[in-house]
Amino acid sequence: MKDATVPLPCKEKFAAQTRTRSSVSPTKPAVDLHQAQAIEPHSCGGLEMAPVFKVLDQNSSSRTGFMDITKFAIPEIIFGRGSLNYAGQCALRLGAKKVFLVSDEGIEEAGWLQRLMDILEKEGIKWVYYPGVTSNPRDFQVEQGAEFYLKNGTDVIIAIGGGSAMDTAKGIAIIASNGGRIRDYEGANRVQRPLPPMMLITTTAGSGSDISQFCIITDMKRGVKMSIITRTLVPNISIVDPLILRTKTESLIIQSAVDAMAHAIEAYMSRIASPFTEIHSLRAIDLILANLQRAVATRSLDSLEQLSIASVSASMAFSNAGLGAEHALAHALGGHFDMRHGVVHPILLTSVMRFNMGVNLQRMADIGRLILKRQVGSDQDTALAGIEKLDEFFATFDVALRLSQLIPESERHHLESLCKMAVQDACNLTNPRPATWEEFLRICEEVW
Ligand SMILES: [Fe+2]
Repeated sequence: MKDATVPLPCKEKFAAQTRTRSSVSPTKPAVDLHQAQAIEPHSCGGLEMAPVFKVLDQNSSSRTGFMDITKFAIPEIIFGRGSLNYAGQCALRLGAKKVFLVSDEGIEEAGWLQRLMDILEKEGIKWVYYPGVTSNPRDFQVEQGAEFYLKNGTDVIIAIGGGSAMDTAKGIAIIASNGGRIRDYEGANRVQRPLPPMMLITTTAGSGSDISQFCIITDMKRGVKMSIITRTLVPNISIVDPLILRTKTESLIIQSAVDAMAHAIEAYMSRIASPFTEIHSLRAIDLILANLQRAVATRSLDSLEQLSIASVSASMAFSNAGLGAEHALAHALGGHFDMRHGVVHPILLTSVMRFNMGVNLQRMADIGRLILKRQVGSDQDTALAGIEKLDEFFATFDVALRLSQLIPESERHHLESLCKMAVQDACNLTNPRPATWEEFLRICEEVW
């Protein structure tokens, strides 16, 4: 089974439990205790305790105030060209005898699945293959997969693929060990029992599912992507082999990178960001800006490797800091219109950044300075100029920049109900300024 969480000292638990919002200065906006607990509670001797509690001075780039306890959870990461070759040894370390493999058609066709099977067989490991993965993985696929996992007496779950394959594997792990329906676990910290050991091998540089405690599954009945967030979804091992990126299409490289960009920016602006996540956010933004155009134009292994590093950095940040309103809206739209996750970020991201600007100007100015490599007049000027530059950056790629390019006019009337769903998405809770459905709708109209 997966490693148990290292318990924190109990005195910290009691300190956190006795702290209430009333103890916080009313002049400073505070993280909502109940919301924050729902996002990232810590464990202390099996009990839930409060997450990172700090008073956020929304006008400060350094997030002044107290910061008592924080936590940074990541898997063991095996990174580098050829690291896929270590998959067999890694699986053995997790106790693999008969592994449950999850992948998709694209990876099969590119030959990576067979390569992995050969590597496992070389170590004497048997496998059972579950091929039921599509983009935007569905609830029934996960539930069927769990049945298949249990029926075959398999142990370690290994996914090789993009976010869809890895999220399918995570969903299967939840149902196989906790039972019920996948929708029972929507939201934060609803998974009680430990999961089977997991090793995730990413074939894209963006989704971050191989690093994160997130799992996104579509509820077919409601037509919405559910965010399932829990610490045990962090896999035991993540293998990141940049050589795999060479078989990716141009559009997939772009979609993955802009997804990673959105992860980095939303994590940096998150209400529960910490010094340990902020540094990874900034590094990821910088690397994507510096390498994406070259990666698309030349497919050089060096630039693809830099995008992989950026993706890992962005994932370490968002997994621990959470995301924001842009992802909340992207999940609602993506679930209903069955669009690839990466296509919506160039449309929504800068609009949501403008929406957030008034809440924490200095932090948006930090991002602006990173994008522009300089200060341009006031912080407000710098933040705005950075956002405009990011729009220009997205426009250099062959991507949709308006919502109307993805959604037909005849379907536009669905936006109101989808915006109401986005309000409920767990990602909206960590946005510096949780959006109302009317505000989400205004953003959609602005980018239509
Ligand atoms: Fe994402």
